[in-house]
Amino acid sequence: MNWEAAYATRMAQVEPSPIMELIRVMGTRRVINFASGLPDPDGFPIAALRDGAAAVLAEDWRGGLQYGEAEGYRPLREWVAADLRRRGAPATPDQVLIVNGSQQGIDLVARSLLQPGDTVLTEEPSYLAALQVFASYEATVRPVRTDAEGMDVEAAAAALRGAGVKLLYVMPSHQNPSGATLSESRRRPLLEAALAAGVPVLADEAYLDLRYDPGEPTPLAAAHPEAPVISLGTFSKTIAPGLRVAWLAGPAAAVARLALLKQVADLHTGSLTQRLVHRYVSGGHLPAQVARLRAVYRQKRDAFLQALDRHLAGKATWTRTAGGMFVLLRLPAGRSAAALLPAALDHGVAFVPGAPFFPAGGGEESMRLNFVSPSREQIDEGVARLAKAIDA
Ligand SMILES: Cc1ncc(COP(=O)(O)O)c(C=O)c1O
Repeated sequence: MNWEAAYATRMAQVEPSPIMELIRVMGTRRVINFASGLPDPDGFPIAALRDGAAAVLAEDWRGGLQYGEAEGYRPLREWVAADLRRRGAPATPDQVLIVNGSQQGIDLVARSLLQPGDTVLTEEPSYLAALQVFASYEATVRPVRTDAEGMDVEAAAAALRGAGVKLLYVMPSHQNPSGATLSESRRRPLLEAALAAGVPVLADEAYLDLRYDPGEPTPLAAAHPEAPVISLGTFSKTIAPGLRVAWLAGPAAAVARLALLKQVADLHTGSLTQRLVHRYVSGGHLPAQVARLRAVYRQKRDAFLQALDRHLAGKATWTRTAGGMFVLLRLPAGRSAAALLPAALDHGVAFVPGAPFFPAGGGEESMRLNFVSPSREQIDEGVARLAKAIDA
């Protein structure tokens, strides 16, 4: 059987993620891992989840073990809608679809909108796994000029007017991989430009709550109630990613169409985990959990930035991220992070080369560093090893 000949042509666009490859290569090597995208497992609220799972199985096992609605568990949709309204973004339960991780939300939105050759506008850099989704639907990704305040509105407005532009994908708060946040002053103008062009905006709010500097972040959708925004949120970063419970919210008609597609994809998100998450959030546990995570991650962020100052001042530049999980570090022009990686692994530290996050090429000198999954003790040692590898 020749499988290569059997695949649809679009499968040529589905390539292994450099991150997954790296994790595979790292295998059993004992390295300090700044490469992964994982939250700190010590932050999982295990006691409340254990109690919640036992309670769901005791009290609501019929629902928890049964097929459910494609749209998701209604009480959870109600909770998400109320939470969005509290944050200034209008939403009713009918405007919420529960998805199997926000990654599925990206996939469903892309699948519903993109035809081969269509253009998706993104930040530069952007989230690698979203770029992979867009590629899998044979779309062209065009990055918009981006700086420390997020996407440049004038550049975005000009790009939005281009032929074949079907979607604008943006991570408004503490984005992956740079940690940058779209400034308040850019939010409404960006949405006005999308509205004027008639192009939907997919606002991936995965890191909304993970803020360590002062200020309470708001969802992008709150900046313009009429704009064509589909917001994506996830419990992966605030509770635990293995639950695979996330949500998508947007205009009711669009959400209803996406629910049909969700049904085609996987019928519905797990009944048990949706109930577990609902029990957790409706029990009022989330604010304290987010506060705990913020405190721990803030300390790690600070320790990481201090370690960078201590070991890499003058040898590299980096983003001073206000939240999220990552720092994007840049080596001097002309140096390649990918070429440095084998030496870094030899020195016992891993990172993800940044180039794959840059959809139009470039970024070879950059690397993404996860500061939340290593322990406090590993942070200084890992950065010291990185500095040695850079010097070698
Ligand atoms: C920006 C962004 N969006 C979406 C996801 C996917 O998260 P999940 O599918 O666990 O909700 C991630 C995970 O790292 C991410 O960084």
